[in-house]
Amino acid sequence: MLKGKNILLGVSGGIAAYKMANVASMLVKLGADVHVVMTENATKIITKEPFEVLTKNKVYTDVFAPGTPETNYVPHIALGEAADAILIAPATANIIGKLANGIADDMLSTAVLPASCPIIVAPSMNVHMYENKIVQANIEKLRSFGFIIVEPDEGHLACGYDGKGKLPEEAELVDAVLKAVAKPHDMEGKKVLITAGPTEEALDPIRFITNHSSGKMGYALAEVAAMRGAEVTLVSGPTSIKKPYGIKIIDTVSAEDMYNAVMSEAPAQDIIVMSAAVADYTPVTTADEKIKKSDGDMSIPLKRTKDILKTLGEIRKPEQFICGFSMETENVLENSRAKLVKKNVDMICANSLRTPGAGYKVDTNIVTIISRDGMEELPIMTKHEVSDKIFDAIMKEI
Ligand code: CTP
Repeated sequence: MLKGKNILLGVSGGIAAYKMANVASMLVKLGADVHVVMTENATKIITKEPFEVLTKNKVYTDVFAPGTPETNYVPHIALGEAADAILIAPATANIIGKLANGIADDMLSTAVLPASCPIIVAPSMNVHMYENKIVQANIEKLRSFGFIIVEPDEGHLACGYDGKGKLPEEAELVDAVLKAVAKPHDMEGKKVLITAGPTEEALDPIRFITNHSSGKMGYALAEVAAMRGAEVTLVSGPTSIKKPYGIKIIDTVSAEDMYNAVMSEAPAQDIIVMSAAVADYTPVTTADEKIKKSDGDMSIPLKRTKDILKTLGEIRKPEQFICGFSMETENVLENSRAKLVKKNVDMICANSLRTPGAGYKVDTNIVTIISRDGMEELPIMTKHEVSDKIFDAIMKEI
């Protein structure tokens, strides 16, 4: 996803600097050409060598260090200018203060100044330093200049305090880079609502009715829309997938919860994609205590849930684009086209459970995109690739 992209990693002297070797490795694995600039203090926490081995590029700490032909012998200018994105993590109060005030007194603070690409800053420090009004004002100043701030996590900090200041997980930092540069931002300004995962319909405090949906398709759709610049809200059923960075997530459990969340978010949206596997039936009653077994069989009375997609089709604004999913075991295309008409939506993405490589829990899918006046049969693809195709088709229609 980062093939052909030049990423400049700026490492300053926070204790979490050691984690950046992993970030460098992850970026390299995604295809990026990674260059690393470190502050002198960062080299006291982790040496240059792991970064040089992982990135196969020279690591700079000194403005006056000799450059290479690749950097035109002026690395403090060439590195920032060549970057497609800069990630500064961990960003100490010191580097944040310098960046906010245009101070260029070492290699990292200098290399950032000539850059015109997205600059991501991940503050990480003691909670009281982080809460300091001057530090907060500097962070706000960076935001106002267009810097992307990845908020620190709360937790147990190296200094012994509990609070906000932890560097987020490495994957979250990589997600921020992906969101900034992996794809052209052709969905900038679009508000996109996506539903994902299964629903759980409780029988009693212990048992529930659910389905095999893992949420992978919906999360891939959300990540891809965010990478293409959209403002994404993800209404998620219970899943074990890592929460993606930079996406508003509303966690839901039952079909009723999901209905309520979607209805409150829907009016503001330009595009809605219902990829969740919503239960069609729910128990008539949910027992407050565990249902005890007795001799003989038992049956559970079920009632219909509200059809979220159908309701969206009824209350839709004319300019909204609504896309549903359809999971069938037979007559996939006919049944899916019938749903498009019956639910008054613009597109149905049909997938068959019977095709190997498609469906629940796997990372690939085989989808046919059915719109009002055409259809596109896609070959087997990863769920991220399918997501791109779906948004390509949607963006062509709106
Ligand atoms: N859906 C929904 N609310 C429900 C059930 C389904 O919004 N209560 C949505 C799904 O998210 C999907 C689409 O409707 O986008 C199709 O769901 P599917 O279960 O395949 O079809 P149904 O409409 O339920 O029809 P059937 O059960 O007859 O296949």
